[in-house]
Amino acid sequence: MELKDQAIIVTGGASGIGREACLALARMGAAIVVADFNAEGAAKVAEAVKALGVAAHSFKVDGSVASRGNFNYNAAKAAVIAMTRSGALELAEHGIRVVGIAPGYIDTPILGTDKGVKEQLAAQHMHRELIAPEKVASVAAYLFTDAAEAINGSTVPVDDGFLAFKE
Ligand SMILES: NC(=O)c1ccc[n+]([C@@H]2O[C@H](COP(=O)([O-])OP(=O)(O)OC[C@H]3O[C@@H](n4cnc5c(N)ncnc54)[C@H](O)[C@@H]3O)[C@@H](O)[C@H]2O)c1
Repeated sequence: MELKDQAIIVTGGASGIGREACLALARMGAAIVVADFNAEGAAKVAEAVKALGVAAHSFKVDGSVASRGNFNYNAAKAAVIAMTRSGALELAEHGIRVVGIAPGYIDTPILGTDKGVKEQLAAQHMHRELIAPEKVASVAAYLFTDAAEAINGSTVPVDDGFLAFKE
């Protein structure tokens, strides 16, 4: 599966899932724009992408909204799911697909450093382990390809069964 002749903007590309998405998409041949709040981190990822022989640029973006606790976070994530459906409907006639990814607990800096908390989160997956960010990036990379062209308007869980069970 190749993404040659494509240029892809990865927001939040300096760290975690975004960083791994930059690298996975670059390995498939896409030129990458690493967009992040953290300009220094974005530049480092752009260098790593260039080392793979692919064009890369980095720039600073700031998409901040007011946030205090999970109320806003949950509302924002629900909005993204609804925007994915609506965006797909609006853009289908232009040949554009819109697909979301709903990750489980991914082992990135966003989870903090508390070992006990991380173990509790990991226990909510079927394999009882946090998910590596590369596992989300590989699904994202697949969704960009023609092989995934029948996936549209949906949000794909990459959660090691998080939504499938409760104990
Ligand atoms: N890690 C998880 O368990 C998990 C689970 C579900 C959803 N998510 C979501 O996935 C996305 C990526 O998370 P991650 O785990 O890779 O986190 P991360 O902290 O490793 O990376 C997030 C990146 O986004 C950048 N960023 C943050 N706010 C920004 C802003 N306002 N403008 C521009 N860039 C900004 C940061 O500088 C950082 O480089 C987030 O939206 C997060 O909510 C993560």
